[in-house]
Amino acid sequence: MGSLAFEPYAEPLPDISQKTYRDAMARLGSAVHVITTDGPGGAGGFTASAVTSVTDTPPTVLVCVNTSVSAFAALRENGVLCINTLGSRHREVSRLFSEKVGLEARFGSARWRTGTTGAPILADAVVSFDCRIIDEKSIGTHSVFFCEVLGLPHDGEEEALIYYRRAYHRLGSSSRMEN
Ligand SMILES: Cc1cc2nc3c(=O)[nH]c(=O)nc-3n(C[C@H](O)[C@H](O)[C@H](O)COP(=O)(O)O)c2cc1C
Repeated sequence: MGSLAFEPYAEPLPDISQKTYRDAMARLGSAVHVITTDGPGGAGGFTASAVTSVTDTPPTVLVCVNTSVSAFAALRENGVLCINTLGSRHREVSRLFSEKVGLEARFGSARWRTGTTGAPILADAVVSFDCRIIDEKSIGTHSVFFCEVLGLPHDGEEEALIYYRRAYHRLGSSSRMEN
């Protein structure tokens, strides 16, 4: 132990149930994305918040995907995905891509185009990360896909859609704190 002294946390280590863990994660505010894919394995897409930058050299992101998601097999077979970060006007898009709704209704709710990888790019996303999947690591119910970023279209709206405490919020420059 170094010179810093920390008081021990008073509670005994809790038995962390799925509910306890989920309630804790609900306290984290996250950007909301729709992950899309297309190619030989077919088209697919779902709503995700578990998206994180890994490094800028080379540009790499990770996405955590439940293996039960309907697009899972297509993601693996296509080897490409696009992370479309949603704006506040996309709340309904997020809902459709996270509920048991057919692909026509999901993709019919917005405008899409394709870029480098062929994965659908949301026309007015805050930003999109057009990616090639370079690695996969399975943990429990999920696979973590590591993705090399090949394209970065971003000409959409500025106000972000945020998921926090199991509800949608909007985040724009009016909520900025003074330094
Ligand atoms: C705000 C929000 C964030 C989500 N984040 C993830 C995620 O990061 N990874 C994941 O696998 N599922 C996530 N889900 C759940 C999937 O969107 C959902 O299970 C899936 O789309 C179910 O439909 P499908 O299997 O028919 O595609 C999230 C759902 C919501 C509403």
